[in-house]
Amino acid sequence: MMNFKEDPARERYDRNAWCFDFQDSLFGQLLAKKKHEMIKQTKGTVLEVGVGTGKSLSHYPKGVELVGIDISPKMLARAEARAKDFPGRLTLKVADVQSLEFPDNSFDMVVTSCVFCSVTDPVQGFREINRVLKSGGVGLHLEHVRSKHPLIGKIMDILNPLVVRMAGANINRDTAENIRKSGLRILEEKDLLSDILKLFKTGKNENASKSVRG
Ligand SMILES: C[S@@+](CC[C@H](N)C(=O)[O-])C[C@H]1O[C@@H](n2cnc3c(N)ncnc32)[C@H](O)[C@@H]1O
Repeated sequence: MMNFKEDPARERYDRNAWCFDFQDSLFGQLLAKKKHEMIKQTKGTVLEVGVGTGKSLSHYPKGVELVGIDISPKMLARAEARAKDFPGRLTLKVADVQSLEFPDNSFDMVVTSCVFCSVTDPVQGFREINRVLKSGGVGLHLEHVRSKHPLIGKIMDILNPLVVRMAGANINRDTAENIRKSGLRILEEKDLLSDILKLFKTGKNENASKSVRG
């Protein structure tokens, strides 16, 4: 497995961290309410993968014990500035979802928002989430995906290389399929903006093959 220091996502987000909040302001506004609705459901020990510049931190309910990870130290440095008013216990650390250092069955919940568009090996990332979720644990994933509409899907495929270069995000991923391939169970799949923005609720699959950590 690739050393995470060499992961292209880390390099891209480190490069763009200074302007991420500005770049994300339009889409971010659109997402803020949906993110709030998702994050207010969290409780117990929670892992947020790809916490980025920490825009989600203000949405957590009181008492949550949160670990926020990101592959990009420069994105995470910006999250530190937003961490002061967090209403529970918070740890922020540089880490790669494709190879997590946490023991099996560590978290009650795992949250992601607009992360699996940029994880280099998304199936491996979801495998690791399955591993660190406790039995009965729940994943909440607000993710944008490729449209099933033939023309819109094709346009997304054509634009994808440009968007990856500019913003680091793949706009044409089949995230439902990636979740299924990882072994995690999809408990619920909701369309939030046509069929390109989805909320996936996932559950641990005890029988999924154990992920190999690098
Ligand atoms: C589009 S940003 C979203 C940030 C934040 N979730 C939000 O909604 O504002 C994607 C984030 O995922 C992080 N990321 C990409 N690959 C990752 C990986 N393998 N492990 C952990 N974080 C990763 C990037 O560094 C970036 O901060």
